[in-house]
Amino acid sequence: MRIDIITIFPEFFSVLDVSLVGKARQSGLIDLRVHNLRDHTHDRHRTVDDTPYGGGAGMVMKPEPWGEAIDEILGDVADDGPVLIFPSPAGELFTQAMARELAQERNLIFGCGRYEGIDQRVFDHFARTGRVRLVSLGDYVLNGGEVAVMAMIEAVGRLIPGVVGNPESLVEESHEDGLLEYPSYTKPAAWRELEVPPVLLSGNHGAIAAWRREQQLERTARVRPDLLPPAN
Ligand code: ADE
Repeated sequence: MRIDIITIFPEFFSVLDVSLVGKARQSGLIDLRVHNLRDHTHDRHRTVDDTPYGGGAGMVMKPEPWGEAIDEILGDVADDGPVLIFPSPAGELFTQAMARELAQERNLIFGCGRYEGIDQRVFDHFARTGRVRLVSLGDYVLNGGEVAVMAMIEAVGRLIPGVVGNPESLVEESHEDGLLEYPSYTKPAAWRELEVPPVLLSGNHGAIAAWRREQQLERTARVRPDLLPPAN
């Protein structure tokens, strides 16, 4: 998969050299390129923002640098239609289902907004000929899209075949079956007077599976009742 990121803080993304995503880049499974939006400005101050039409606090990112940066990437990627993703607290919620969907794509382009956002015409222009999605990490406000993009790349990247060594470990995770995952334990069997639930030491696979399912349901009902299907 090829991933392009447009940002005014390219140095943010140096952390994507480590861990699983870093390995996937080294092995060629992920071709990740970071672009500085300011390279697409043409004034002495490399200006990327301006005051909002209609007034109001804060600054809005100007459309021209975005247009030029995205045009350049579009001219360079395979032409089967990349998805343009803009992290925004005003976007649709990022979920495991969306991560699975995006993991099927060949090209993703992430545009990191700052300040009060990006001129709306950037989204409208590229939506005329391609796929544009505004995506929110959750109901809180970050200073910009960079951290959100890192979270999305990690969630999507680990679903690309070959990135996670043991694909079975992807199956029994929170959100994969719509529920939170069950609690996990390893040795020793007793630690600081806390014992591992005896069923996990029983060797009875049916009983273990039933216990884990029960734990998933109990935990989801307690912590995230919104994830459960509505009761009849
Ligand atoms: N940018 C600022 N806040 C954000 C959020 N909650 N999700 C995604 N991008 C953002």
